[in-house]
Parts: sequence; structure tokens; C-alpha cells
Amino acid sequence: MTTADTPAAAGAAEAAPSAGPCERGATVWLTGLPSAGKTTLAFALADRLRAEGHKVEVLDGDEIREFLSKGLGFSREDRHTNVTRIGFVAEKLAANGVKVLAPVIAPFADSRAAVRERHGANGTAFLEIHVATPVELCAERDVKGLYAKQAAGEISGLTGVDDPYEAPENPELRLQTQGREVADSAAELHVFLTERGLA
Ligand SMILES: Nc1ncnc2c1ncn2[C@@H]1O[C@H](COP(=O)(O)OP(=O)(O)OP(=O)(O)O)[C@@H](O)[C@H]1O
Ligand SMILES: [Mg+2]
Repeated sequence: MTTADTPAAAGAAEAAPSAGPCERGATVWLTGLPSAGKTTLAFALADRLRAEGHKVEVLDGDEIREFLSKGLGFSREDRHTNVTRIGFVAEKLAANGVKVLAPVIAPFADSRAAVRERHGANGTAFLEIHVATPVELCAERDVKGLYAKQAAGEISGLTGVDDPYEAPENPELRLQTQGREVADSAAELHVFLTERGLA
């Protein structure tokens, strides 16, 4: 009897996963100003991808700061640490077939470059999406009331207003949201992933 004839070996062969587009992981990082639409678009895309059978995880900036990055502040160094931590986890998940959506401001180009480099070193796909909503529209949306608080002098260090935001120079995709429905922007993102063989 060869080993291939044993029940265990036969079972293992039957259980082998079929290869397909759903198996390929990637990190899709949505960077942009507060209220740009990162979280909204990430969850809209996540719902659609899950419905299509993909494994999906959303690493939202706010949630991460409550747990993984609890205790970090908003200095340049802490913001960098926050982004590289998220990038570390994202890469691990993406390397195992998960579509990781990271709606995280990530204001500094060198932080994003470090995350990209880590993915590249491990051969894991990394796509940088600039949710390029102009600051004036973000301030109008002001989902968390931060722009109003900054204007009233109650807070400082708001990204894009009195703290730096280094917009990506060469993102894989620059997404406009002004004058567009959430569904339309989410659809554009889905088309983009489809073109990359990821959806
Ligand atoms: N085309 C669009 N795409 C995304 N969001 C849109 C669009 N049009 C309007 N919006 C609205 O803009 C707001 C974006 O808020 P959201 O919380 O997603 O921003 P964010 O980028 O995650 O901000 P933060 O960095 O503060 O977490 C939502 O109220 C959303 O409904
Ligand atoms: Mg958000």
C-alpha cells in the first residue's frame, strides 16, 4: 500500500482548497483627511466582497486606537507607530488570503512607504487608495465634529488643518467623492479591485 492509499492521505487530498481569485489576499489602504469617506467606503466595499465570498477584514483607525494602539497619541512618532502596527497586522492577514481594508488617515508619506515596503518584502499585495476629498468638503461633512472644534479653538492638531497631511503622490488609485453617491465611489473601488484580479 502506498501512502497515497491511506484514508488520511486521501482525505487530505479531498480537502485541498481550490485555487481561485478569492484566495488572493491584499491590503487596500484608504488614506485621506478626516471625514473624507474612508470608513464609509471600506465598509461598503467589505459588505460587497463578503457577499461575493471573499475573506475580508476591516482595520478601522478608530477601532485600532481603542485596542491595538491604545495609549498612543497624535505626535508624529505615535502616528507613525500606529500606522506601522496596523500595516504589520494587515500584512499578516493579507498574506493568508484576506482582503484587508484599512481606512486609516496615515498622514505621513514615510509611514505609508514603510508599510508598502514591508508588504513588498513579503510579496504581499499593497494598494494605496487616496480618498481625495477636499478639506472644505470634509469640514462641511465633519462627521465627528472635529473641524468645528478646531475652528472654535477647542482642539488642535487636526490633520489637514493645523497638522500635516502628506497626500500620496503616486497612489494606485485616487478616488473623488465630491458630488458622488457613496454607492458610486464604492463601485469605482470594486471595479479597480476587479481589474487587479482581486475581486
Ligand atoms: N461618495 C462618498 N463616499 C464616501 N463618503 C461619502 C460620499 N458622499 C458622502 N459621503 C459621506 O461622507 C462621510 C464620510 O465619513 P467617514 O466616517 O467615512 O470619514 P472618514 O474618512 O472615515 O473620517 P475619519 O478619518 O474621521 O474616520 C459620511 O457621512 C458619508 O456618508
Ligand atoms: Mg474613519
